[in-house]
Amino acid sequence: MPSAPQTLTIRRPDDWHVHLRDGEVLRGVVPHTARQFARAIVMPNLSPPVTGIAAVSAYRDRIVAAVPAGLDFTPLMTAYLTDGTEPGEIVRGHGEGAFVAAKLYPAHATTGSARGVTDVAKIRGVLEAMQDIGMPLLVHGEVTDHDVDIFDREAVFIDRVLAPLVRDLPGLKVVFEHITTAEAAAFVDGAGPQVAATITPQHLHINRNAMLVGGIRPHAYCLPVAKREKHRLALRKAAVSGSPKYFLGTDSAPHAVSAKESACGCAGIFNAPFALESYVQVFDEEGALDRFEAFASEHGPRFYGLPLNPGTVTLERSEVEVPAVVDANGTPIVPFHAGERLQWKLRG
Ligand code: NCD
Ligand code: ZN
Repeated sequence: MPSAPQTLTIRRPDDWHVHLRDGEVLRGVVPHTARQFARAIVMPNLSPPVTGIAAVSAYRDRIVAAVPAGLDFTPLMTAYLTDGTEPGEIVRGHGEGAFVAAKLYPAHATTGSARGVTDVAKIRGVLEAMQDIGMPLLVHGEVTDHDVDIFDREAVFIDRVLAPLVRDLPGLKVVFEHITTAEAAAFVDGAGPQVAATITPQHLHINRNAMLVGGIRPHAYCLPVAKREKHRLALRKAAVSGSPKYFLGTDSAPHAVSAKESACGCAGIFNAPFALESYVQVFDEEGALDRFEAFASEHGPRFYGLPLNPGTVTLERSEVEVPAVVDANGTPIVPFHAGERLQWKLRG
């Protein structure tokens, strides 16, 4: 057997799904993403959400101002869809380069989604316009009906919302964000090339036991919630499959320790500081290091119709200890893998 590679050099990667927040915390979390990635799709679920061209552009400027000197990082912005979103604003914003995609949050599905869409029928005109101009729709794929069990909400969303949407708008580019189930991977595999998905590091590493065995562990709680082991295994298979439909999207979602460790803790896992290290370990464990570059650096830009990044980054097989807490410019946040040792280290 050939000896295991000690380093892996890949084209600079991008993060196709990240939450950077705003204000003081923004300045604390942007450096982590900018150190790892050349570009990132920035989620618009601020409070209030960033909906129109002016708000998105102002948010972009605040992100750019938070990038440390010497790092080359480009935020790719998204518009937040509401029941009242005007197709004209979306088309104009896309044309002007203010946003590359629009995000569909079913109302009340997750953090910052209170102003999300109550029924996709209400934004039919927007979706038709997006289909016409080739603008990707990024979907938080969970129903919010109280009678649907939280562990079933993604699979039910496929049947009730996503499958009909993809059938009715066959030219619409759709990214099924942060998929967590075997059903989602099967749906993506069976759909046309216009349907893709992001996969987070946490859904490749943990199942729901991580949240609930031996005590309730709020730092393993995110939405969509981690599912059973068979789903984690299906996601690992999809991520390392080499299919161009799957790409890296961390869903890094920082919340202060106090907001997580609470009687009603917030959903979200802050994985930005060691995202590449976390992902590459999965590809290594799966014997698929040779497929990591495509997942991290090629499938995303190709789907979005953007150029591949110039330049490379190098990961080396070397232990890295993840700290118990990261200080995000004054806000303490517990990172994913806190206190664990990862087997790969990003150089530089
Ligand atoms: C995200 C957040 O905190 O903004 N939380 C999460 O658990 N992933 C929102 C989201 O993507 O659902
Ligand atoms: Zn997210």
